[in-house]
Amino acid sequence: MDSDIFSKFSLKGKVALITGASRGIGEGIASAYSKAGAKVVICSRKNRAIEEASRKIMESGGEVLGLAANVSASNDRARLIKDAMDWAGQINILVNNVGGNPHFGPLAELAESAWDKVMDINLKTSFIVSQSVYHAWMKDHGGTIINVSSVGAFETIVGINAYNIAKAALIHLTRCLAREWGPNGIRVNALAPGLVKTKMSQALWDGPLGVELTRSNPIGRIAEIDDIECGALFLASDASSFVTGHTLVIDGGQLVR
Ligand SMILES: NC(=O)c1ccc[n+]([C@@H]2O[C@H](COP(=O)([O-])OP(=O)(O)OC[C@H]3O[C@@H](n4cnc5c(N)ncnc54)[C@H](OP(=O)(O)O)[C@@H]3O)[C@@H](O)[C@H]2O)c1
Repeated sequence: MDSDIFSKFSLKGKVALITGASRGIGEGIASAYSKAGAKVVICSRKNRAIEEASRKIMESGGEVLGLAANVSASNDRARLIKDAMDWAGQINILVNNVGGNPHFGPLAELAESAWDKVMDINLKTSFIVSQSVYHAWMKDHGGTIINVSSVGAFETIVGINAYNIAKAALIHLTRCLAREWGPNGIRVNALAPGLVKTKMSQALWDGPLGVELTRSNPIGRIAEIDDIECGALFLASDASSFVTGHTLVIDGGQLVR
């Protein structure tokens, strides 16, 4: 294989902003990007957690700015983008990773406030942060945006369908932004992980359901965070320079069962 091919995966000289990166998939992606040569800006709501995640990246030789910011709050979002630009002067890669499902139950019983919260953290914040980064840097300089969706976008599961709807809309947002911002040199893609071993999903993988999900998965295991990091590196790097509007499913075959 041409050794040049590996240099396409390098993020040297790039600055990446990853939301929700004090633990789980976001922390893994930030660590992978740092190891690939990027300067990283990471945020989460809790100060101590983001300091700890930043310390780990620094100890492995990376350059990092860790900020306590709630991406659901407009003031925090504005401060996040401003501080990132003041620190690094550019944002070449944005990973909209914050998301989750704070409400379980059938749609018939879902309160309006719960619907709003699920749409906010899984869909709206990704749009508003992308739009802010577009105006702050990418509109004139290009870049790449990765939205962290889920295989839930392709499934219907009673109990988490509001989350699934939001993640499906996030995939369509990805396609719409890819079309509108492609002429500005911006690629926009989504990742759709299956079940990954993180704190958010612990109730699903750490028990009888986890045994069943492992048994029924074609590859025969549940994803580790580094399975997702590799896809995120591909989509952020020049290795995927002709890929946009795409959703990369990383699920061990969960969807083809
Ligand atoms: N784990 C899975 O099986 C799985 C599967 C498919 C898709 N996903 C998606 O992958 C993404 C990451 O999931 P995960 O499992 O890694 O979650 P996680 O372990 O719960 O980590 C979430 C991260 O986001 C931060 N965060 C949460 N709300 C925030 C907010 N409003 N503003 C800023 N930071 C916030 C958390 O820190 P603080 O609490 O300090 O804010 C933490 O650093 C989500 O979009 C999720 O839907 C996960």
